[in-house]
Amino acid sequence: MTALTGKRILLVIGGGIAAYKSLDLIRRLRERGASVRCILTNGAQQFITPLAASALTGQRSHTDLFDREDEADIGHIKLARDADLIVVAPATANLMAKMAGGHADDLASTVLLATTLPILIAPAMNVRMWLHPATQRNLKTLQAVGVHVVGPNEGAMAEAEFGPGRMAEPLEIAAAVERLLAPSGSLAGKHVIVTSGPTHEPIDPVRYIANRSSGKQGHAIAKAAAEAGARVTLISGPVTLPDPAGVTVVHVESARAMLEAVEQALPADIGIFAAAVADWRVDNAGEQKIKKKDGALPNLSLTENPDILATIARRTEGRPPLMVGFAAETENVIEHAKQKLARKGCDLIVANDVSTATGVMGGDSNTVHLVTASDVETWPTLSKTDVAKKLVARLGAMMGGGKP
Ligand code: C5P
Repeated sequence: MTALTGKRILLVIGGGIAAYKSLDLIRRLRERGASVRCILTNGAQQFITPLAASALTGQRSHTDLFDREDEADIGHIKLARDADLIVVAPATANLMAKMAGGHADDLASTVLLATTLPILIAPAMNVRMWLHPATQRNLKTLQAVGVHVVGPNEGAMAEAEFGPGRMAEPLEIAAAVERLLAPSGSLAGKHVIVTSGPTHEPIDPVRYIANRSSGKQGHAIAKAAAEAGARVTLISGPVTLPDPAGVTVVHVESARAMLEAVEQALPADIGIFAAAVADWRVDNAGEQKIKKKDGALPNLSLTENPDILATIARRTEGRPPLMVGFAAETENVIEHAKQKLARKGCDLIVANDVSTATGVMGGDSNTVHLVTASDVETWPTLSKTDVAKKLVARLGAMMGGGKP
């Protein structure tokens, strides 16, 4: 018995060079015990053949919406129902656009529109196509309706370019399938939202207010939660870190965009608010670059940003049952953390000393205190990865009724 024994996967193969990797994906899914059936788009058939897919799945592959034999045999509606999960790999820019727009002009898009099954997409395209606002908009639309995403990874592309757009590797996709269909670990079946990194608050189109947060701790927590079997949505401010594997990452810039993304990602079982959100933004940000004038200083007027943690923790509906905040302090760490716990309305504060001598900001290790309404616990200095793992294990125990 392996993780995916008895699970049925419908693999929709889109038309991109990464289609050759989908053949390997079939093998990886089958060796985990899943049965796989394939739909190939017209584009996919420029790269691989239905015969190759059938040879590897051991089942007939499907290509045509109006194929009389196919329709008599299984039919597109049955294809859209007879599986546990639909995987779209590679999910090309065009296929994502069709899914987001609700198009149904071939077998793949019709099945994707007709289905109520969970869907996992593995985007693969040229870096500029991936970063294009249209694709990013489509991605958000798909995530908002619950489509799961794995990758893309950063790396060398077929066109001798470099950047995000490479399809996740077959083993990463298979791991994402396992997380969806056979979750195991202390947070299996839980949805965890993590905020991470700084926010950038614009002064004008080229300048912004920021802080020194690297996002290392928040990203490590997102990764550890995914490894513990959770479905993780990481809402990240601008950082230079790669997206953690197996995590749905929503990139934002400002505090207000971060709050909106958190609200969109709800409901969740656990909210972990590790982002260093800017307290203020410029309320008279220039639409054009503010010009330097002799002797005259720009008159910037600041206004308070929404407190994301407090806003979510105080919701009467849809508050994640377990809410974790961070307190980065330079003095009276525990006292301030206790006050913050009450003020923000969260269940647990992870407090740390970020005075410059500690090197926490941007560094790789952290000394934290876990502060709840009834307890303070100080952990030894650990790497941020180990803090993340220990925290995730603790949250798993708390969800299961263990030690707070
Ligand atoms: O008030 P302070 O910034 O010290 O609070 C830190 C905690 O609150 C962190 O968990 C941080 O992610 C969260 N926070 C927030 N939105 C803000 C400010 C802080 O979610 N605008």
